[in-house]
Amino acid sequence: MATIAELAKLHTEFSKEQVAHLQALAGEWGMLADFCFADMLLYVPTTDDTWLVIAQVRAATGQTLYLVDWVGASANLSERPLLSQAYQSGDIVEGEIAVEGMSDACRMMAIPVRYDGATIAVLTREWNTQSSRQPGELERTYLEIFQRFARMITVGEFPFEGRVADGSVAPRVGDGAVVLDAEARVRYASPNATSALHRVGISANAVGQTLAELGMIDSPVRQAFERQEPVVEEFEQTSDVTLLTRCIPILDEVDGETVVTGAVMLLRDVTELRRRDRLLLSKDATIREIHHRVKNNLQTISALLRLQGRRLESEEAKAAVAESVRRIRTIALVHETLSREPGDDVAFIEIVRPLVRLVEEGLQSPDRPVRFVVHGDGGRLPANIATPLSVVLTELLQNAIDHGFPEGEGGGTVAVQLDADDEFLNITVIDDGRGIDPDFDLASATGLGLSIVRTLVTTELAGTIDMRAATTHELDLVELSLRPGYTGTVIELRVPLNAE
Ligand SMILES: Nc1ncnc2c1ncn2[C@@H]1O[C@H](COP(=O)(O)OP(=O)(O)OP(=O)(O)O)[C@@H](O)[C@H]1O
Ligand SMILES: [Mg+2]
Repeated sequence: MATIAELAKLHTEFSKEQVAHLQALAGEWGMLADFCFADMLLYVPTTDDTWLVIAQVRAATGQTLYLVDWVGASANLSERPLLSQAYQSGDIVEGEIAVEGMSDACRMMAIPVRYDGATIAVLTREWNTQSSRQPGELERTYLEIFQRFARMITVGEFPFEGRVADGSVAPRVGDGAVVLDAEARVRYASPNATSALHRVGISANAVGQTLAELGMIDSPVRQAFERQEPVVEEFEQTSDVTLLTRCIPILDEVDGETVVTGAVMLLRDVTELRRRDRLLLSKDATIREIHHRVKNNLQTISALLRLQGRRLESEEAKAAVAESVRRIRTIALVHETLSREPGDDVAFIEIVRPLVRLVEEGLQSPDRPVRFVVHGDGGRLPANIATPLSVVLTELLQNAIDHGFPEGEGGGTVAVQLDADDEFLNITVIDDGRGIDPDFDLASATGLGLSIVRTLVTTELAGTIDMRAATTHELDLVELSLRPGYTGTVIELRVPLNAE
């Protein structure tokens, strides 16, 4: 559907400010439609001399006249004279219109929309006199309020500048409306408003009293009267009821001066909404707490294993246990990061950095100075991808140290490159070490480290692995250089991010 801005650009010569005024009007007019129980359309005169509908709204309180959407259509023959008359005179006019497929008489009230001293558009109320609501007190009161807002539109006082309500939670008329007079005394409270007041313990007949006298928080009303602009406020009237109120002052000209002659206060009981917000929040906190506990448990396990490792005699057994300790600590690290993040995903770089540190710590040999560098970041990853990848990365870093730079042969550099787009995460680990044997074959490698890498990347993450000697170009990119006789190693992982 075309927007107000798009239609205005195509068919009128409106300035940006004029379009903004009409957009603000459309941001507020749900309330107007509700007060007048009818459909409302916004017409603008076009550059080719027609009247174009650029927005339409239906009332939540009344029957609609139009099942179709008229946005982008032109006014019909019966409507044009009324629109032109309102536009030229600057006064509200009313008359009969013909509505396609409708035998009953329908009426249109045409309200000139004034901005910065000139009428720029016409807002209409269109309704069927036969099927409209039986007038009771609510209908009379609402229609009168509507008339007062309509007058404000014709003099450019409504919509209020720069104050568009947040449509998602803003109370509507049907949620509860209280009409206040010039002294801020309640003149009328709709049935839903009366019920809402009841829930906060105000059961007295509200009519004739101020909100303060009723024992209700009245700061939004006082502010709306003083500042002559709408005020939105949410407050806990009692410990278990949260009310969202929006107070819109009604302005009028008295002796050439603009004064507040009353106000409408819309109120909505948002207790249930806010309770759900709080629940969501605490669900998040619970998930974080669980990650925290998993991390603690894993740390306990790794500590137990370390103790056990110390009692072992065989060097091979000691090394095996030490490896396991390292792997468990890697997983603990992921949970620790997740326990600090709201939500279920993590910035991968937040895991990679401490992970590199973990591998560095295990090095601690002065005759093997290995430097680690990390380029790029992997973006945010869900936990089910971040956890296996962390284990994989640890294995690769450990291999680079173990096999690229054997004890006694000096050190080198290991670079990790992370690069993510919408679909894939590419992780490249490059070292300028000794390199793999020419007849090394990844598919048939039997070491535990690469078996873990293979299983996690290809089976669990549905990704691919490539392992080969580093090219000069690849080494240059990460500013690595080879010692004579060394070939360096590149391991490239490519993992799809949206796989189930
Ligand atoms: N960065 C590397 N540079 C040179 N060779 C490597 C590199 N990474 C792996 N390799 C070779 O691949 C073999 C298999 O590695 P893998 O991690 O599976 O086992 P491992 O490291 O020997 O033992 P484990 O990881 O179980 O302690 C290694 O023994 C080594 O020959
Ligand atoms: Mg290994």
